[in-house]
Amino acid sequence: MTIETVHVGLGDRAYDIKIGTGLVAAAGDHIAPLLARPRVAVVTDENVGARHLDGLRDGLAAKGIDMVALTLPAGEGTKSWPHFERTVEWLLAEKIERRDIVIALGGGVIGDLTGFAAAVLRRGVRFVQIPTSLLAQVDSSVGGKTGINAPQGKNLIGAFHQPALVLADTGLLDTLTPRDFLSGYGEVVKYGLLGDAAFFGWLEQNGPALRDGDMGARIAAVKRSCEMKAEIVARDETEQGDRALLNLGHTFCHALEAATGYGDRLLHGEGVAVGCALAFELSSRMGLCSQEDPSRVRAHLRDMGMKVDLADIPGDLPDADTLLDLMGQDKKVVDGQLRFILARGIGAAFVTSDVPRDMVRDLLAEALAARG
Ligand code: GLY
Repeated sequence: MTIETVHVGLGDRAYDIKIGTGLVAAAGDHIAPLLARPRVAVVTDENVGARHLDGLRDGLAAKGIDMVALTLPAGEGTKSWPHFERTVEWLLAEKIERRDIVIALGGGVIGDLTGFAAAVLRRGVRFVQIPTSLLAQVDSSVGGKTGINAPQGKNLIGAFHQPALVLADTGLLDTLTPRDFLSGYGEVVKYGLLGDAAFFGWLEQNGPALRDGDMGARIAAVKRSCEMKAEIVARDETEQGDRALLNLGHTFCHALEAATGYGDRLLHGEGVAVGCALAFELSSRMGLCSQEDPSRVRAHLRDMGMKVDLADIPGDLPDADTLLDLMGQDKKVVDGQLRFILARGIGAAFVTSDVPRDMVRDLLAEALAARG
């Protein structure tokens, strides 16, 4: 199968995202041109490492590249000061130099932590992202947001540090659980909803096949998602404006994740999907888009077997006012004003602070009441 390339046009920090099957096995071919000496440091987690570290070692060895690896515990708890400190000290102990390359092999947690370690190590070394989850392939590995969580909230400590290369091996997606795959798909749908109605239409047609393993469709979906993210990041790298569009569904999502403990009750991409459905419902109630748009969003999420409503989230949820307060703790709040990404239609999202609080409360209260 062919390897697709998406270029992220950021001047002297520009890089390519390679998308296709077999990229881990061919990692040496892609990474060798970046190296000053044939040695790399890889950071991974226990789950991903058990599945893919030997394949990466072989892929690098095929080009004569030695690899040392640090395997961290899997899970969100790893995105924390103790594991960050351990990673930086390990990289120093391994004598990783300024001209070397660090590789992040894993999902969003490993990518964010490793990217941040690379950003500060010797004031910045280059790093390569090898994202292993769908969510990381279409979102977190692209665009240079790196960091860890603070006790005060998620992703509050970090840096913008662009990777030198992203290898999105879509063959690795076969090892994901269906739930993890669909969670990542929440971010894929988001791209169509925020800026490409034709892509959303394509997903309505091809989503079930790509969910069921159609590799050509998977590659096409990852490619279009990365193209859209690359284009937005190239025009607003540090989120002064348009990059906030990528947060469609996220204001609702962050409140729901906080309410459910950032865990198994609601995965991030599931929260994004539910949040997108709520954002379209709110847009329709505000007269910004037609009533058919939220129905179409919900119908597609249902077709895919995804969570759509608050009723699909197991366990108790707090009341609408508490959810609104949790939204107010989102780090994208500006001067205490909640910022929403709303839509004038499918593929036509925009950023606004001009949302009546009562309307959001009513929407949430009704969605909570529908839980029965
Ligand atoms: N995940 C949103 C962004 O990268 O800006």
